[in-house]
Amino acid sequence: MKEGLVLVAKLMASIIFLAVAVEAAASSGHSLSLPGCPDKCGNVSIPYPFGIGPLCAATSISSYFNVTCNDTFHPPRPMVGDSETLVEITDVSLERGEMRVLSPVNHICFTSNTTSTKFIGGYELKRTPFLPSPSRNRFTVIGCNTLGLIGGYMGTASQYVTGCYSFCEGINSTSDGVPCAGMGCCETAIPTNLTAFEVAFEMNQSKVWGFNPCFYAMVTEIGWYSFQQKDLVGRLGFIDDRAQRGAPIIADWAIRNGSCPEEGSDYACISANSYCMEASNGPGYLCQCSKGYEGNPYLLNGCQDIDECALRKQDPKYKDMYPCRKGVCYNTPGGYLCKCKIGKRSDGTNFGCRPLHTTAEQVVIGKAMYGDFTSVSLH
Ligand SMILES: *[C@@H]1O[C@H](CO)[C@@H](O)[C@H](O)[C@H]1NC(C)=O
Ligand SMILES: *[C@@H]1O[C@H](CO)[C@@H](O)[C@H](O)[C@H]1NC(C)=O
Ligand SMILES: *[C@@H]1O[C@H](CO)[C@@H](O)[C@H](O)[C@H]1NC(C)=O
Ligand SMILES: *[C@@H]1O[C@H](CO)[C@@H](O)[C@H](O)[C@H]1NC(C)=O
Ligand SMILES: *[C@@H]1O[C@H](CO)[C@@H](O)[C@H](O)[C@H]1NC(C)=O
Ligand SMILES: *[C@@H]1O[C@H](CO)[C@@H](O)[C@H](O)[C@H]1NC(C)=O
Ligand SMILES: *[C@@H]1O[C@H](CO)[C@@H](O)[C@H](O)[C@H]1NC(C)=O
Ligand SMILES: *[C@@H]1O[C@H](CO)[C@@H](O)[C@H](O)[C@H]1NC(C)=O
Repeated sequence: MKEGLVLVAKLMASIIFLAVAVEAAASSGHSLSLPGCPDKCGNVSIPYPFGIGPLCAATSISSYFNVTCNDTFHPPRPMVGDSETLVEITDVSLERGEMRVLSPVNHICFTSNTTSTKFIGGYELKRTPFLPSPSRNRFTVIGCNTLGLIGGYMGTASQYVTGCYSFCEGINSTSDGVPCAGMGCCETAIPTNLTAFEVAFEMNQSKVWGFNPCFYAMVTEIGWYSFQQKDLVGRLGFIDDRAQRGAPIIADWAIRNGSCPEEGSDYACISANSYCMEASNGPGYLCQCSKGYEGNPYLLNGCQDIDECALRKQDPKYKDMYPCRKGVCYNTPGGYLCKCKIGKRSDGTNFGCRPLHTTAEQVVIGKAMYGDFTSVSLH
């Protein structure tokens, strides 16, 4: 009797331990950085091929994967670039091949209709893995009576210029929250392959500088900027209020040297269960984990099986994502099985079970039933 209880207690303990272990593995996941390297700077994840310091980054592919963590800030801030242009990183996505950076806002401010101060920055991206995303950014200009221009190069040869014009007679002819369609602000799309760009202003400030002393122009993430009348007022009012650290730009990054299908010793998609995907903006490729796997395709064994069954237990949202109605979920490499218990069979969808017979039939037939099961593979 006593021995039996001890056995039950041990069993219970191991079941609880298993449950905890599964939970921990599913929620914390594996590190996305090179083994032995920090995976975060402040609260920003820095996944390989990026890394903090040259020994932790894929510098043999590009020196620009080297991230500097500036810990004079609290929390510390990751920076990327070179001595000429260093920008702050706020987000890196391996799946989308994107990085969100904060870029200083170009501006010109008048203290009279003839005297001004300005900041005009530019980017030379040809030797970097980065290009501004055409689908996620706009060129945005803020001000009354100003033409903002963006010019540069697409690839190495094609010159590129576009811009937009914003006009307003006074602050009151604008209103908060309106789309940037020309009254106080304007915006225009940018192309793929924009390997270098810089902005310029053409304006007639003499009528407006009294109420609108500063004009701004920036490439920025779609949806980030929303017009406010106060952005036109005061010296650097917009920057001090909402863009002190800069405005977000979504940069597309890729392994620029090479293409799919990749051969050779430099192939970056080294994890099992990963594949090569052509970059959508500019040359090169990205690596992705195969369906049913997640993690970092740029690391050995970086792509780990998704345990759909453990996720289903963690959060109801996964029950819709990985359905198994009235069945028992079994994790498999790259997928899961939804098996039906004894007395049930597939409901015809592979993702659910139903009684083998109606309740009335079951009463007649009794209990001597075996279950069938359905098998689901996400490949
Ligand atoms: C990172 O930290 C900053 C400042 O503490 C905070 O505003 C921001 O929401 C944090 N971001 C994440 C993803 O936790
Ligand atoms: C990238 O390509 C260039 C030109 O093809 C070559 O000179 C360079 O060595 C390559 N870099 C790497 C890391 O393979
Ligand atoms: C990487 O970053 C460190 C720290 O900022 C810097 O000293 C080093 O020169 C960088 N290395 C490369 C290859 O860019
Ligand atoms: C960190 O940021 C401070 C303030 O911008 C700057 O003075 C310092 O040079 C930076 N340190 C590094 C290592 O980049
Ligand atoms: C500057 O503004 C004043 C008054 O607003 C005007 O008289 C003058 O002509 C302007 N100068 C220029 C160069 O536009
Ligand atoms: C991007 O620029 C490169 C270099 O000039 C060129 O080879 C490539 O065709 C361009 N791609 C697109 C999509 O414009
Ligand atoms: C703008 O409108 C506000 C409120 O309606 C008013 O107080 C202000 O005087 C107006 N400013 C101008 C320049 O017309
Ligand atoms: C700017 O506007 C003022 C007033 O409308 C006008 O007199 C002047 O000629 C304009 N300057 C230019 C360069 O267009």
